[in-house]
Amino acid sequence: MKIAITGKGGVGKTSVAAGLVMLFKNKGKKVIAIDADPDANLATTLGFLGPERPEPISELKKLILERTGEVGAFFKLNPKVDDIPDKFSAKRDNVTLIEMGTVKKGGAGCVCPESAFLKALLSHIFLNRDEVVIVDMEAGIEHMGRGTAQSVENFLIVVEPNSTSVDTAGKIKQLAEGLGIKDISVIVNKVRSKEDKDFIKKNLKGINIQGYIDFDELVLSSRGLMPEKSKFMRQLEEAFNGKTNR
Ligand SMILES: Nc1ncnc2c1ncn2[C@@H]1O[C@H](COP(=O)(O)OP(=O)(O)OP(=O)(O)O)[C@@H](O)[C@H]1O
Ligand SMILES: [Mg+2]
Repeated sequence: MKIAITGKGGVGKTSVAAGLVMLFKNKGKKVIAIDADPDANLATTLGFLGPERPEPISELKKLILERTGEVGAFFKLNPKVDDIPDKFSAKRDNVTLIEMGTVKKGGAGCVCPESAFLKALLSHIFLNRDEVVIVDMEAGIEHMGRGTAQSVENFLIVVEPNSTSVDTAGKIKQLAEGLGIKDISVIVNKVRSKEDKDFIKKNLKGINIQGYIDFDELVLSSRGLMPEKSKFMRQLEEAFNGKTNR
């Protein structure tokens, strides 16, 4: 199972990603959890705190330069990355957590060694690892090359019942389709009423709705840590009914 999670800022991507990591882990599956959002907080949401947090991959400047063999403007687009998931990650129970880190944006058309390295790493994990893979991404889906995109089995866009996140979902869907991703669906989060559901059904056209998660006071009051026993987790499991057993 390879799942990528995107959506507009603040809709609940990290909460959904962390929830899914916990669901699969609790079913006894091995999971690789990847935080690909530059403003990383998947570690916190999963309870990897302080020294338990992994070192962000983009900070491994020396290693990245060695592996990409940068000479002047030239560098390798297929650096060695197969040892990275086990060396530069945090592990607990059956969960391996990797933080991609931040890559400075280059000018138009520029691909910097860090971003080539992260792309290669994501591609390696998607194509060669047999754990369940769950990626918490930003709306831009920038680390995703075509090969990686095509091995995503569940591309999940999280939306809230409001116009801006629905608009963003439409744009992400276009980007994703452009990369050849087929299984695109939506999780509607922070639902407070029947009107919220009706709003989504009316405004979100052409994307499969995988499930609804209500606004959950317990999630909010847990200050960033996903509560294991919560309505949020129950509804997320319902949305994934079947898939977590694959
Ligand atoms: N169903 C829910 N009910 C109540 N609060 C929620 C729910 N889902 C997420 N939240 C809260 O909303 C806030 C944003 O959630 P989260 O960090 O998961 O979103 P995000 O999309 O990852 O945000 P960012 O774009 O900043 O990475 C958090 O405080 C989280 O606890
Ligand atoms: Mg987040």
